[in-house]
Amino acid sequence: MKELKKLIDETIGIIRQKTNFKPKIGVILGTGLGRLVNSIKEEVSIPYKGLPHFPIPTVESHTGRLIFGTLSQKPIVAMQGRFHYYEGYSMLEVTFPVRVLKFLGCDILIVSNAAGGVNPLFERGDVMIICDHINLMPENPLRGENDESIGPRFPDMLNAYDKKLIKLTEKVALKQGIAVKKGVYVGFPGPCFETGAEYRMIRRIGADAVGMSTIPEVIVAGHMGMQVLGLSIITDLCFPDVLEPVSHEIVIAAANRAEPKLTSLIEGVVGELKVRSGKLKL
Ligand code: HPA
Repeated sequence: MKELKKLIDETIGIIRQKTNFKPKIGVILGTGLGRLVNSIKEEVSIPYKGLPHFPIPTVESHTGRLIFGTLSQKPIVAMQGRFHYYEGYSMLEVTFPVRVLKFLGCDILIVSNAAGGVNPLFERGDVMIICDHINLMPENPLRGENDESIGPRFPDMLNAYDKKLIKLTEKVALKQGIAVKKGVYVGFPGPCFETGAEYRMIRRIGADAVGMSTIPEVIVAGHMGMQVLGLSIITDLCFPDVLEPVSHEIVIAAANRAEPKLTSLIEGVVGELKVRSGKLKL
């Protein structure tokens, strides 16, 4: 889609009027990573309001701005506030910021979310490294005309979650004494939580956790050849035979409790990445 490139260029043009900072890593501060903001040495921040083609978040617990700065001495840009399909945005809108991160110079995308656990070995508050996903959202962000200059028509999803980043995260977790699980994330459109029958199906089709975000962004990042690290906080357990009530408040409270673990992991992982002659090395 030629139009998409034009939109990206317009947004990058406005950002470049405000800063020449060259980030290498993009971080989406989803649920569980909000407080990572405190660890970023900020150079400049730009509210989404001032950025053409950026949607404005509708969920109260998310604020909308891009933060440019360093994390563990590495140049990053963080999205404080992300967009969900259930808010009513198109897939193009949900994923547009990820396009911008790539064209700002980011080769790596780090993304987090809150998810319900369907794996019986999971506990509330667990951190799960996402190793793969199942997309059950009703739309794919790559549907429609494809701009080959951005990415291929039929991108493979073999390494959608970068294996080296997964290994590195496990190494950092071990060093920091943080227990991590690994698993498959399934994306539902939301906004309602799933039924007991749906949780049973989710487990049977091979997933470990379920949530309402992340997959569109990861598909678009993969389309552009970015390396992705995805982490979930297991905020509630979705075992159909002993299902307990869940609410947004329960999810947020559980995510807040697990946040220090996630923040520390990301700082550790980013600290291990090497930037050599403008390129990131794993
Ligand atoms: N489903 C169930 N539990 C959850 C979800 C979800 O989408 N997100 C966070 N906890």
